Amino acid sequence: MKFQILTLFPELFPGPLGHSITGRALNNNLWSLNAINIRDFATDKHKTVDDVPFGGGAGMVMKPDVIERALLSFPEQGRRVYMSPRGTPLTQNLVKELSKESTLTILCGRYEGVDQRVLDAYGFEEISIGDYVLTGGEMAAHILIDATVRLIPDVLGNETTTDEESFSNGLLEYPHYTRPANWTDASGQDHPVPEILTSGHHGKIGKWRQDQSLELTRNRRPDLLSDK
Ligand code: ADE
Repeated sequence: MKFQILTLFPELFPGPLGHSITGRALNNNLWSLNAINIRDFATDKHKTVDDVPFGGGAGMVMKPDVIERALLSFPEQGRRVYMSPRGTPLTQNLVKELSKESTLTILCGRYEGVDQRVLDAYGFEEISIGDYVLTGGEMAAHILIDATVRLIPDVLGNETTTDEESFSNGLLEYPHYTRPANWTDASGQDHPVPEILTSGHHGKIGKWRQDQSLELTRNRRPDLLSDK
């Protein structure tokens, strides 16, 4: 899978994506990334990429002609995505869909955003990573790419499954425990693991985990249960 990133800060890529699981997969060519500097497509001597908003108001708006030239500088764009707090929320279902694409072009805005006409003219899908506002789309793009890349076949080893994790079955994941079976903390307090997990009874453990998932989801994210 190939990601084309349009940004004013190409040096932010791959950034954290160059490490750990996504980094190994990048080195193994399971995915690739090309960060394009939008400023390279400004034509005036000051390399201007933004201008004041029509109608007045605070902040600057990224110019449509500069973004268009950056976009048309490479031939295959695939699905075009603009990272924006106004966008469709990024969910695991959307991530699954995106992970099946061969190319994704991601536009990262700065300032007040980008001129609406270039988004409309080139059919950009707006995607939000959550109900808060970042200073730019780059970190949102990191998150979208990380979540997408780990679903590309062979990126996660066989020891990691995505079947049971939070959201993939519409529920939050049950809690995990490892050795020691009884952990004594620094103040001398004992913390044994739930007894069922050391019983060796796989049927009961499965049922316990399912119950824990439901209970956690009911308490923390009742919105996820409304369609169940
Ligand atoms: N750019 C600024 N805030 C954002 C958000 N919440 N999601 C996606 N892109 C953004």
